Amino acid sequence: MNVPENHPKETRVPSVHTRAEWQELQAHWRAQGSRFDLRAAFAGDAQRFQHFSQQAPEVFADLSKNLWSRETEALLLRLAAACGVAGQRDAMLRGEPINSTEQRAVLHTLLRRPAGLALPGDRAEIPGLLAQVHATLDAMLAFAEQLRADTRITDVVNIGIGGSDLGPAMAVRALAAYGSAGKRFHFVSNVDGHELDAVLRGLRPQSTVFLVASKTFTTAETMQNAHSALAWFAAQGGQGVDRHFIGLTANDAAAAALGITTCFGFWDWVGGRYSLWSAIGMALAIAVGGVHFRALLDGAHAMDEHFRTAPPEHNLPLRLGLLDVWYRNFCGFTSRCIAPYHAALARLPAYLQQLEMESNGKRVDRHGAPLALATAPVLWGEPGTNGQHAFFQLLHQGTDVVPLEIVAVRQAAHALPGHQDKLLANALAQAQALMLGRASGDGHRDFPGNRPSSFLLLDALTPRALGALLALQEHRVFVSGCVWGINSFDQWGVELGKQLATDLEQRLRSGDATGLDGSTAGLLGRLRGAAP
Ligand code: F6P
Repeated sequence: MNVPENHPKETRVPSVHTRAEWQELQAHWRAQGSRFDLRAAFAGDAQRFQHFSQQAPEVFADLSKNLWSRETEALLLRLAAACGVAGQRDAMLRGEPINSTEQRAVLHTLLRRPAGLALPGDRAEIPGLLAQVHATLDAMLAFAEQLRADTRITDVVNIGIGGSDLGPAMAVRALAAYGSAGKRFHFVSNVDGHELDAVLRGLRPQSTVFLVASKTFTTAETMQNAHSALAWFAAQGGQGVDRHFIGLTANDAAAAALGITTCFGFWDWVGGRYSLWSAIGMALAIAVGGVHFRALLDGAHAMDEHFRTAPPEHNLPLRLGLLDVWYRNFCGFTSRCIAPYHAALARLPAYLQQLEMESNGKRVDRHGAPLALATAPVLWGEPGTNGQHAFFQLLHQGTDVVPLEIVAVRQAAHALPGHQDKLLANALAQAQALMLGRASGDGHRDFPGNRPSSFLLLDALTPRALGALLALQEHRVFVSGCVWGINSFDQWGVELGKQLATDLEQRLRSGDATGLDGSTAGLLGRLRGAAP
């Protein structure tokens, strides 16, 4: 990776794998970790559940069915201390430019900080930024309320991709029980015209609002979809682009160049995958209203405060992030499966994929030097119980061990009898089966057991609980990134493909294959309809 020349000089820290605490963990893994048995661990420790479970804001977590002992956890906490995770957390919260390759602060937590709240060590600019955050939030929510009340508007189309799609799409679905203001919500992300075409077919211009969500307002997919939507609007006789196209962006000038002049802004210190809390959350604010949107922010803030103040041994994001390090670097697990046991959380795995893999899918440290250790696992999943009838076979009997993370919700938001108990029983049963296994004397029917799972439990899927759950996930990703010594807040890995696509788009039109590799040239010909 090219680190910009004006990259600020940071004190180099030793790679984590050279630390004594890392080597102690390796010795611990060799001595005990590789032979660890969950069933024996519960038999030998009557307090195991109590020790490894905790209530954090809005989220109860049971981490006891994981392949670690109290000693493992103590060693991991020592590693976190040696890596200065708490110091790095505080640097993030007070607005230091910890996104070193882009020389930016990382202040998504400010988006959910109550107005006027000062934190110890805040940089001088924080009060001013917080005032801007709240002025923008107030304006955004006032607009959302106005739109909610406007019965002429029946459809809201969010055009955006990555963090400008996954957060609002996931959250509008997750909080559907809190209403939709009588409107239909559509999310168009893909440059594949089939997606936009299918949405536009059901719309009328005068009853539609398009939210063009893009931090940079340069993302190719979003620009193409916005152009096409504007063209459709004009062709259908739509009047009043200023009322029907709303920019959600940190680049007002680029929006204006496209003719979009009604904008709600945010700042370069909000990463795309951390932007649901900003104007990018407009679709959600329209769907559920300002009170519930503020409750989402409150829940996230409560988790921020927990992360900032809870002692290490009771700090849930820290414990989860360290468990991730243990699994990835010592147990050698390459993926984590996330199974929300709530149909409204169907898009949570996709949202978390971007959060984990775009943040920590890195192969160099924050100075640009190659890492000698593995980083982010592959994250994947589907809602339970659906996944049980598909890939859970592999979780129970496959050759790889895949830690499972269950997100369950105690209370249902529907009144259909019989469903909720079955759903929760299934969540419990899967975790139990993975751990206990079963010997049958028939290899096909044997379950090895000793397979790990975490259980995150919300009391109800409220806006506040969703906010806390998402902030928990953000901070656990931050923790593992700190231990690995990487910059979790850039995403240079998405750039090369974007550049090559621009070049190949021209070549698809012209047919010029000069200088291309044989495969790309051959495929280009095929795509242009030429015989091989
Ligand atoms: O290409 C990756 C990415 O930059 C993500 O990090 C981001 O969430 C997404 O594209 C969309 O970016 P924008 O909001 O600037 O359109």
